[in-house]
Amino acid sequence: MVSLLAGCSADGPGPVQTTGHRADSTWDLIQTEIFAGQCVSCHTAETSFGRQSGLALTPDVAYEQLVGAVPTNAAAAADGLMRVSALEQGMPGLLKSYLWEKINAPDQQHFYGDHPYYGELMPFGGKPLTNGELAFIRTWIEAGAPETGHVADPALLEDESRYEVPEFKPLAKPENGVQLHLGPFEIPPHSEREFFVGTPLNNEEDLFLKRGQIAMQTGSHHFLVYTFRDQTPADELPTPHEVRELRDEAGNYVLETLRTQLFQLPVFGSQWPFFDYAFPPGVAMRLPKDTLLDLNSHYINRTSQSTTGEVYVNLHFADPAEVEHEARLFALNNLSLALPAGQVTTLEREFLFEERTHVLQLISHAHEKMVEFRVELVGGERDGELTYIAYDWEHPPVLDFDPPLVIESGQGFKLKTTYDNWTDADIRFGFLSTDEMMILFGIYYED
Ligand code: HEC
Repeated sequence: MVSLLAGCSADGPGPVQTTGHRADSTWDLIQTEIFAGQCVSCHTAETSFGRQSGLALTPDVAYEQLVGAVPTNAAAAADGLMRVSALEQGMPGLLKSYLWEKINAPDQQHFYGDHPYYGELMPFGGKPLTNGELAFIRTWIEAGAPETGHVADPALLEDESRYEVPEFKPLAKPENGVQLHLGPFEIPPHSEREFFVGTPLNNEEDLFLKRGQIAMQTGSHHFLVYTFRDQTPADELPTPHEVRELRDEAGNYVLETLRTQLFQLPVFGSQWPFFDYAFPPGVAMRLPKDTLLDLNSHYINRTSQSTTGEVYVNLHFADPAEVEHEARLFALNNLSLALPAGQVTTLEREFLFEERTHVLQLISHAHEKMVEFRVELVGGERDGELTYIAYDWEHPPVLDFDPPLVIESGQGFKLKTTYDNWTDADIRFGFLSTDEMMILFGIYYED
């Protein structure tokens, strides 16, 4: 795989080559500025750490050991990760790279919560890499991890701030807005708890949401705020304040809870313990009179003691006179799913927009047979360009666009979703976990 990459960059356009010697290529700087001081002491062939990890980061072998190499860690290898992917760039390259998982400290709740078998964050036992070092390595991976040439600005390394685990405390109440509070609630030992709570705002007039904040007690996998589709039949709406568990005590899905998902639209959410999102100035989302929100919390407890979950949510409202554009939600939903038994199937579906659309956020939704969810642009100069990708049906990335992604009238998105139906029954669209879905949710505004 390494020689294949070298071949490609020699014939193709590839990264810019420096003149003969490679003293300060991006890859050289990663080694001299980051690996030499913080990694090589352990990651040397003859040390016990070196043997345990099966990874040497000394200059003679580091490139071959990382790029295009299968991880020693069995869970990461089984998930299809490479230490650093040699074949994919951009977001796919990053999502396929185990090195990035192992150093990306700001995402540590996801790392420990979702990947109990991925070992420890690196550098092992040390402080996380600085935000500048992370940005530098990330840019290199996104550029296809070339051995030569300059693909990341060395000025990135000047940012010496570091991620610190934030201390959980209640959010200050918003000046113009409301605060919602869930918990404290218990998460039993060795278990996951995911539930929904219908939460009425009891607003007598329309409100305009301009900013959302979330603060969560540690251990949270994610938290999401949903609204309901306009046409939702009244008897499908949840009873206010009732806690609806996603799984019963035996671990089976509760059908009524799943069913409500048919009518939900995500507004904002977070996988990180603290989250603060504001729409661009002048943009806000209308919450009509008597809005009912659905709050969705998911906690994972891998310890042998009960832990406690707790979530604060702030909704900040705009003065209606400030609102120039209304943020809205779309759900591009392919209802005509047919996945034959025992086959891998890729479905494609195009969705075109009639009006010029400014997209602020994208997130995909599918069930457990999904292996890849790609979204490409349709039309215009960037026709065919990959704009979104998810490999993990349970944790699709929430992708924010700042500045917004502008889709001209007549242009749109092509969804290309691959499913592995390993069962002996055909699968169609449906809300059970044994059925499938192919939805791209988005937040947007029009001119
Ligand atoms: C104190 C020793 C130590 C230091 C320092 C250290 N590591 Fe590790 N590393 C380990 C051990 C032990 C493992 C195997 C256990 C695990 O994955 O948690 C490992 C595993 C890894 C793996 C996974 C290897 C595989 O294929 O499974 C990567 C990638 C990695 N380290 C990168 C780094 C980087 C990059 C740095 C520097 C920023 C670093 N490590 C610093 C000890 C260390």
